[in-house]
Amino acid sequence: MTEPDTPLVELINANLIIDVPVTDPGTVNNVEGNGCLVGTQSNRKSETKTTSTKKSSRYRARSMSASSTDSFSSGSYSGSSTEDDVPPREKTQANSSGFSDFCVRNINQHAFGRREIEIAEQEMPGIMALRKRAGDDKPLKNARIVGCTHINAQTAVMIETLRELGAEVRWAACNIYSTQNEIAAALAEVGLPVFAWRGETEEDFWWCIDKCVNSWQPNMILDDGGDATHWMLKKYPAMFKSIKGIVEESLTGVHRLYQLSKAGKLTVPAMNVNDSVTKTKFDNLYMCRESIIDSLKRSTDVMFGGKQVVLCGYGEVGKGCCQSLKGLGCVIYITEIDPICALQACMDGFSVVKLNEVIRTVDIVVTATGNKNVVTREHMDKMKNGCVVCNMGHSNTEIDVNSLRTPDLTWEKVRSQVDHVIWPDGKRIVLLAEGRLVNLSCSSLPSFVVSITACTQALALIELFNAPPGRYKSDVYLLPKKMDEYVASLHLPTFDAHLTELSDEQAKYMGLNKAGPFKPSYYRY
Ligand SMILES: NC(=O)c1ccc[n+]([C@@H]2O[C@H](COP(=O)([O-])OP(=O)(O)OC[C@H]3O[C@@H](n4cnc5c(N)ncnc54)[C@H](O)[C@@H]3O)[C@@H](O)[C@H]2O)c1
Repeated sequence: MTEPDTPLVELINANLIIDVPVTDPGTVNNVEGNGCLVGTQSNRKSETKTTSTKKSSRYRARSMSASSTDSFSSGSYSGSSTEDDVPPREKTQANSSGFSDFCVRNINQHAFGRREIEIAEQEMPGIMALRKRAGDDKPLKNARIVGCTHINAQTAVMIETLRELGAEVRWAACNIYSTQNEIAAALAEVGLPVFAWRGETEEDFWWCIDKCVNSWQPNMILDDGGDATHWMLKKYPAMFKSIKGIVEESLTGVHRLYQLSKAGKLTVPAMNVNDSVTKTKFDNLYMCRESIIDSLKRSTDVMFGGKQVVLCGYGEVGKGCCQSLKGLGCVIYITEIDPICALQACMDGFSVVKLNEVIRTVDIVVTATGNKNVVTREHMDKMKNGCVVCNMGHSNTEIDVNSLRTPDLTWEKVRSQVDHVIWPDGKRIVLLAEGRLVNLSCSSLPSFVVSITACTQALALIELFNAPPGRYKSDVYLLPKKMDEYVASLHLPTFDAHLTELSDEQAKYMGLNKAGPFKPSYYRY
């Protein structure tokens, strides 16, 4: 059993099971695949600028949305000063100890940021447990990590944990819009070299990454989108060769790594944490179970009891949404193309229908298929007045929003992320987030979910940094299952959950190691 009390170093030493490298993205459980391939560098950057949801890493790319210029945190610092008008690169700033190796919007915001980090810590039990348990071992001692992620309260908890585990770090933002300035200030105040602010220019963006690389010799990369990896490979090829490992968070970055690997240009081992089981399950099922309600409530103030909802796609996301909608008394219909998922929906007590059969009567339409044109103009023409339409899938093509941009229809923005689309006869539908991921656009990301991701990232760094030579080749690996199990075990004490231990006899009977892993790699949770 992977007990939360097992010393971390032991856990790592005991971890002799390495998942085989996955060199073909098609062979991994690529939940966000859906044909979303990586464009050229310039394409991708402009994509980031126009619709930052597209750069969602799960999360954690998932962590920001098209509304990344809005603050997701109610506790977010909202004050400003004339100091904020001066471009950060033109300012000379120092923290209260005189440390000045950073570039943030305004160091004076640090107290607000610290408060937010402390709030996040309370809801991130796994990463805090890891910090406490491995704090003495210092499994990242001598690691020099260059990090490129969103910079918000939750990622700050992870960054500070990496330091507590012994690493030296330098950090830049992976998105020009998503940095919480007060959080960056709080990190700088504790002497952490951080180069990030909200509203960076394209040039600032690369300057910040370069500041994390050019003045020292990193030996690990923690990336969310692949930009730090790309920069080092392009600008510092010799230095790149001496990197011990890359940990990549996002779907986009993972695709880039696979491409590098296929082209024979990946000279270091990399860990794909995007597809780790625990993280995937939390992002798809559990997070969506919570956030569908949150985002619908925040944007429409809708009452759910007795409402008729059609959910397109009964996969992980669809199942999560249905669980909570059912709990609130909705009458739920499912559309599916896959007989297995359709049968699951029947077993769960839902009616499986074709969209046309219910489209005239339903109150809410939610898509979660990962497919395109699931809800068409023809469907929307038939919807009743006031029907709410939204998408939980990765791509904004599930609802054919473009078909609504015709002269006969009037668009009325009623609040942020909410549009009324009005037909000539006065009928209106309520379109949320213009068809982009509604939960990432209209609600916040639960810290608990980020705790899971942060743990997988930290453990992947520890694993790659401490792995004996030869364990990992220059390829892309999935997180070893045992590590995935360990991430879950770190979160169990929060619930006072007590795991059953296998007896020797049972372990022998099952052919298992008592310390795990407990399932084969093909097991579907
Ligand atoms: N909103 C979020 O926070 C969030 C989190 C995780 C994943 N996602 C995204 O949500 C989407 C679904 O993810 P998932 O893990 O549930 O995938 P999944 O593959 O488990 O489920 C999708 C389901 O949709 C069905 N489907 C496909 N085309 C359909 C159609 N035309 N009509 C009806 N059903 C159809 C499939 O058979 C499948 O069962 C993906 O795009 C994923 O990237 C969103």
